[in-house]
Amino acid sequence: MFVTDLTRKGRNGLIFTDGPIWREHRRFALHVLRDFGMGKNLMQERVLDEVSILIDEIKMQIFEGKKEISVQDSIDLAIGSIINALLFGYGFSKNKKEEFYELKTHLKNFMRAVGYPLFRLCDRNPIMFKALPFIYGNVIQATDKLENFFMKELEAHEKEINFDADIEPTDYAEAFLKKRKELEAEGFKDHTFTNKQLYAVCLDLWIAGQETTSNTLAWLVMYLMLNPEIQKKVHAELDQVIGSDRFITLEDKIHLNYLNAVIAETQRFCNLVPMNLNQRLVKDVEIKGYRIPANTTILHLISTVLFKAVYRKKFRRGHSNFGGAYL
Ligand code: HEM
Repeated sequence: MFVTDLTRKGRNGLIFTDGPIWREHRRFALHVLRDFGMGKNLMQERVLDEVSILIDEIKMQIFEGKKEISVQDSIDLAIGSIINALLFGYGFSKNKKEEFYELKTHLKNFMRAVGYPLFRLCDRNPIMFKALPFIYGNVIQATDKLENFFMKELEAHEKEINFDADIEPTDYAEAFLKKRKELEAEGFKDHTFTNKQLYAVCLDLWIAGQETTSNTLAWLVMYLMLNPEIQKKVHAELDQVIGSDRFITLEDKIHLNYLNAVIAETQRFCNLVPMNLNQRLVKDVEIKGYRIPANTTILHLISTVLFKAVYRKKFRRGHSNFGGAYL
């Protein structure tokens, strides 16, 4: 789409690329995230740090006698901190909340500009674009704000990195910049580890990782509030398996069957990315007599899978609510 080239400063990033640049950077991203311990160690420590701050903050608000507490705001800040630690090596929760709110404002304006219905219409129609320059201007402005924000972070971060020391990187930007140095030292001039690619990956990981996780958890909290009987069962399982004097860690996962089911059911029921992402067919295919040529953009509607079983088996018996499929 035109919009993705505009906002990623060309065909950059992870989400809206394909071919060699996608393959190279997806592999690099998975490699870096695994090194940080995706699903274990460093990642778990970062998550638990934020969980601890989040619990303290909510407890403090209760202690201060607040009648209404926005759990969603606290979750949002915690997830933002974890993603930022992953990208730039530091979180926001302790003393950088203002920075988080600034980034959230830029992202909100960005999403609003690219989601604006007239802009969506213009996306496929260059003539309309020319006729309505203000729409184009809004997207450029929102994109520039985000790019400036990330580039400022990156410049400050680059100054702190010791490129000579043989130390494993602990955040994505550091790993990326070190890889660039390495390639340049080996004489590769036309590599893809450019500033534009780094900006676009930061944007992609921020949007893909922050909003999705934060909103899924916010839905989970709401479902538990609306379903006290399910909440009681989760509580009973946690009392039995964990007790109240320690954090839950990944090692506990296999013993928490009911909690796992509640999380799976949350992901099914909140149906967070109902149209998935667009994909390009790399070859002609035929499905049930329909021929779809190569290079067609396709959207696979994950909601048809998430709800189908429930519709078929249980819908008429009144099980279309949260908990209908698993609990
Ligand atoms: C509850 C949380 C999440 C949900 C519901 C979610 C959902 C999705 C979906 C539906 C896709 C499209 C898959 C496809 O095209 O077939 C996707 C892709 C992607 N997600 Fe997530 N995601 C979540 C968390 C994350 C996190 C935490 C990160 C990274 C920190 C992330 C990074 C990405 C990236 C980079 C892609 C593009 C992959 C590619 O095209 O190679 N996501 N996500």
